[in-house]
Amino acid sequence: MKIIRTIPGMREFSAGIRGQGRTIGFVPTMGALHEGHLSLMRVAREHADELVASIFVNPTQFGPAEDLAKYPRPFDRDCRLAESEGCAALFHPDAAEMYPAPYRTYVTVEELGGRLCGISRPDHFRGVATVVLKLLNIVAPDFAVFGQKDAQQAIVLKRMISDLNVPVRLIVAPTVRESDGLAMSSRNVYLTAHERSDVPRIYEGLRAAQRLFESGERSAERLLNAARDTYNKASAFKSEYIELVDIASLSPVKTVSGPALLAVACRTVESNTRLIDNIIPGGEI
Ligand code: PAJ
Repeated sequence: MKIIRTIPGMREFSAGIRGQGRTIGFVPTMGALHEGHLSLMRVAREHADELVASIFVNPTQFGPAEDLAKYPRPFDRDCRLAESEGCAALFHPDAAEMYPAPYRTYVTVEELGGRLCGISRPDHFRGVATVVLKLLNIVAPDFAVFGQKDAQQAIVLKRMISDLNVPVRLIVAPTVRESDGLAMSSRNVYLTAHERSDVPRIYEGLRAAQRLFESGERSAERLLNAARDTYNKASAFKSEYIELVDIASLSPVKTVSGPALLAVACRTVESNTRLIDNIIPGGEI
């Protein structure tokens, strides 16, 4: 596996693959790889001849009070994992390579970026859209794979790719979970032991709503209340939002009639860790 730190180096590698008539599947990440990331790499390999991944802890998507400095960066371990998934190249630029001064251009996906997580993280999706567009321009993949775990991110990026005519196919892969249902996340390492034992309730709440949906319930309020009842029993976290929204516009629905996203964000009490999860009753992104 080639580790590439410069933009010209990455472009040259991709051009070489394309020159052989081979396709590229791309998995952008911020590292601290876990089974969720690795599952995306497997999906990319199913669709494309070569797998390229990136590891870049993107400063523009972190708010001033967020965990940019302490975000885990186990780079050697990540390299071993990416290589074992058959990654041909790992793009690992530094911040100066991606945002040389004076940097002035950002991508804003209007409306969508301001909802759900965008309320407490106002510039987050602007940073995500900007870095992903830059990565797509640099790597020039045929396919790019994102996780349903970050459903709003996938929906924002899908809109951006369509609106800006980016020549790539976006694939959304399912959320990978621990055996007790907790969605895997690089941020789970921040949890205290007490929090770790309580946070599986986040998915339990979503499952309770899913069961009610499967029994025929379509009222958003009643589906949300099923999840809220579970969260009210939690001592280690508080929910920041829990919403049932239209899958394309992300605006709240009163009744589920088409694919809808039931999304939740929680914050733990001891370590102040922000965790998100979601289900899509009756559909997919
Ligand atoms: P990161 O949090 O490292 O996630 C990289 C990719 O892995 C994203 O597409 C995310 O949705 C996916 N992922 C994370 N946990 C997952 C899980 N449990 N199951 C399935 N997929 C999972 O998301 C980002 O980085 C950044 O915002 C990025 C897109 C790289 C832009 O900086």
